[in-house]
Amino acid sequence: MNLISHQINSLNGEIICPGDKSISQRILIIGFLLNSRMEIKGFLDAEDPNSTLIALNGIGASIKKDNGLIYINKRDEHLKSPYKDLNLGNSGTGMRLIMGLISGLGINATLVGDQSLSNRPMSRVINPLKAMGAEIESNNGMAPIKILGSDICNNFHYQMPIASAQVKSCLILAALASNNSISIKEPKTTRDHTERMIEYFKGDIKYGDNQNKGLIKFNNEDLIPRESYDVVGDFSSASFIIVAALISPKSEIVIKNVGLNPTRNGLLKVLALMGGNIEIKNVKNICNEESGDIIVKSSNLNGIDISEDIIPNIIDEIPILCIAAAFAEGTTNIKNAAELRVKESDRINAMAEGLKKLNINYEVFDDGLSITGTNSFVDINEEINSYDDHRIAMSFLIAGIRSKNGIRVKNCKNIETSFPHFKDIMNSLGMKINE
Ligand code: S3P
Repeated sequence: MNLISHQINSLNGEIICPGDKSISQRILIIGFLLNSRMEIKGFLDAEDPNSTLIALNGIGASIKKDNGLIYINKRDEHLKSPYKDLNLGNSGTGMRLIMGLISGLGINATLVGDQSLSNRPMSRVINPLKAMGAEIESNNGMAPIKILGSDICNNFHYQMPIASAQVKSCLILAALASNNSISIKEPKTTRDHTERMIEYFKGDIKYGDNQNKGLIKFNNEDLIPRESYDVVGDFSSASFIIVAALISPKSEIVIKNVGLNPTRNGLLKVLALMGGNIEIKNVKNICNEESGDIIVKSSNLNGIDISEDIIPNIIDEIPILCIAAAFAEGTTNIKNAAELRVKESDRINAMAEGLKKLNINYEVFDDGLSITGTNSFVDINEEINSYDDHRIAMSFLIAGIRSKNGIRVKNCKNIETSFPHFKDIMNSLGMKINE
């Protein structure tokens, strides 16, 4: 499905942020382990969380959707090694977290995914899981992944070579599912939804002090079930709306119930430094996650150097940050972000290729991009390739706001993995996106 996004004069209105993808996936897995009836509100009904849900039902979970709510019921008495492959579709989070869960449960399963997921690196979780006691076969470190039974050890310690919340969460889930303790040291702070959720269910998570920065200790103890869980809105989805309002003239929008976890909302700090007019109101704590309403007004942005430490906290927002940079005065430098090359697409190349078609000045590095923006409108006749990547597709559709004749983006179907109502929500605020 191709979409075209046209120039607009203003964006106005108020919307409710769709549910967080990372949290939706985690609450299904942790809910499965809690093995007690629980109702989930605010779940993101999109392809990635849904493939996680189907995979969990494939190993004996009883998770149902009804009227926008999710119900987790007690699971089958005997966990089953599924006779069918578990298909995680496009979801790296789904595959890596479920690898931890299956290894912890000690059952056998084969995990597969779509073409993009089948080309993403899985050794980052296979190696530590094997060191913990899992037997795993793969296609040269990629899917299909065969987990052939496991006997997970207690008190495993892992120093993560890369900053990845998926790796950290996979290992914590392997320990949790096998009733073992674990300690992990991460090189930079990554999103901490798994740790916060375990704390919410009264599990024992401790963090290292200043001498032991990045250390996370999970001490095996039974979690205590609760009857309900509320998923806050997805900051990553909100980021497309935020940048859209910043770069369009005469705009003022409100996004309600956006997740503001400090390990996720780095883009707010970056955009504030770039001169973005963004306000936060009504901050609340919902199920051990912060949420609030974000008010955004049109702004004249300026380019900045992005600091290395913030990269893991803006990793999914870098494509849309590139669009903000493309319409900012001066140069924005993004480095130390080589992880972008192993996302749903090679996001450094995908963004560079699109920016070239927009006639924006940029330079590409192995680990990032440097972008010099324009304060006028772009004129583009060529189609942009999204490389079947939701965040690339949405980023260039947002750029359409500042195009003279619209921007056509190829293969936008993948938006369904994280933000199924993107087109309708953006159009309700005043964008003009059509097929
Ligand atoms: C995620 C972690 C990040 C992020 C992904 C979701 C998660 O990946 O890019 O979209 O839910 O844990 P990495 O852990 O590979 O950085």
